[in-house]
Amino acid sequence: MPSSAPDLTVMAYGALASLKAAAAAKDKTKPKLFSHPKVDIIDIRRVEVETNLKADIVSQFCPKEGPRKLPTLLLYDERGLQLFEKITYLEEYYLTNDEIQVLESSAKEIAGSIPSESMVIELGSGNLRKVNLLLQAFEDAGKSIDYYALDLSKQELERTLAQLPAYQHVRAHGLFGTYDDGREWLKDPSNISRRKCIMSLGSSIGNFERSAAASFLKSFSDVLSHGDTMLIGLDACNDPAKVYHAYNDKEGITHEFILNGLRHANRVLGQAAFHERDWRVIGEYVHDAEGGRHQAFYSPVRDTTVFGQVIRPHERIQVEESLKWSPEETRKMWDLAGMTEKGKWMHGTEYGEQPAFPFTHITYIPIFRRQLGSARFFLSLSLSLDRPVNDDFTQALPHVLTF
Ligand SMILES: C[S@@+](CC[C@H](N)C(=O)[O-])C[C@H]1O[C@@H](n2cnc3c(N)ncnc32)[C@H](O)[C@@H]1O
Repeated sequence: MPSSAPDLTVMAYGALASLKAAAAAKDKTKPKLFSHPKVDIIDIRRVEVETNLKADIVSQFCPKEGPRKLPTLLLYDERGLQLFEKITYLEEYYLTNDEIQVLESSAKEIAGSIPSESMVIELGSGNLRKVNLLLQAFEDAGKSIDYYALDLSKQELERTLAQLPAYQHVRAHGLFGTYDDGREWLKDPSNISRRKCIMSLGSSIGNFERSAAASFLKSFSDVLSHGDTMLIGLDACNDPAKVYHAYNDKEGITHEFILNGLRHANRVLGQAAFHERDWRVIGEYVHDAEGGRHQAFYSPVRDTTVFGQVIRPHERIQVEESLKWSPEETRKMWDLAGMTEKGKWMHGTEYGEQPAFPFTHITYIPIFRRQLGSARFFLSLSLSLDRPVNDDFTQALPHVLTF
C-alpha cells in the first residue's frame, strides 16, 4: 500500500550502425542486438512538451530580471539525444565510463536489493547501454521486473528499446513524456500499489540547482511506499581540467550538441529566431560557494537580434549546468529530500576527502529508502548489521519497522 507520509541522440540507421560497430569494439557493455517487432511505448504526456517549451524559451530569454537563460530541455530533441549518445562514447566523457565500471562490478548486488515483481523506472533513460547491465543482472537472477525507460523523444525510445536483448524475465517499456508526466503517471492506482525503484543515472540530477535537485527527489517520494527505493548516479569529480574537457571535447561534439539546442528552439518557436552562424558555445568550470560545476553558454559572435532585442558579443546565455557533488552537498541533498542512504557504490575515491588525491573523482550510486520522519526508523536503518548478508534491504525492512 502507498504510504501516507508527507511530500516529500539524427542520422540514418546505417551511419548509426557503423558508429555502433566502432564503439562496440571498445565497449564490452554493448548489448547483443535482437530485433523486436514491436516496442511498448506509453504516451504519458499531459501537455505537448513543445507547448511549455515555447513559453519557457521566451520567458527565460527575456526575463523580467536577472541574466538571460535558455531551457536545458532544448538540448534533448531526437538529434540532441543522438549527439548525446556520441558524447557518451568520447574518451573525455568520464561520467559514462566510470558509471559503467560501477555497474559492472556492482549490478548484481544492486539488483539483489530490488525485489522481484518491481517496476524499475529510469528518469531520462537516453542510451540504454548502462542500464542494460542492471537489466542483465535482474535477468541472471531470474527476477521478474518491469523496466520503464522514460524520455522526451518517442523515436529515440523506440530505437534504444529495440536494441535491448530479448529478456525472459525483464519486460521493457517506454514512457514518452517529461519527468513531471512520469510522476503523475506513477500516481495511477495501478502503479502506486506496485513495488518500485526510481532511477536517475548519468548524474542527470546535476542539471538541477542544488535545492531544486532535492525538491525534485522529494516530489518523487510522493509515489514511493515502504520498501521502495531510488537509485541515483552522481558525479563527484572535482578535477577542473577533467570536468572541463568532458564538456569541451576536442572533436567538438559537445559544442555541436549544445548548438543543436538553438535549432530545436527555432523549430519550437516556428521561426528562425536564432541564426546558428551568429552563435558559439562557451564552457567553463566553476568552483565557488555554490560548489563545483560546469556551465555551458551560448554567446553571439557579433551583434545579433533575437525577439527584437540586440544581443552583444560579450553576453552569455546559460543553457546547461552540470553540478558536481561533494559528500557534504550530497548529504544535504538527501536530508532536504527526506531520503536515507542505504547503499553506495563508488568509482575512485571520495571527493575532497582524500587530500593526497585532491583531483580524484568518483561516480557513486546511492540507493535510497524513504525516510519516514521517525528518528528511530532512521537510526534503525543505520544498523546495517541487521541487514541479511545478501544485502536485500527489502528483507531487512520489516525487522526495522517492528521498532
Ligand atoms: C544527461 S542525459 C543522461 C542520459 C542517461 N540517463 C545516461 O546516463 O547516459 C539526461 C537525459 O534526461 C532526459 N531529460 C532531461 N530532462 C528531462 C525531462 N524534463 N523529462 C524527461 N526526460 C528528460 C534527456 O532527454 C536525456 O536522455
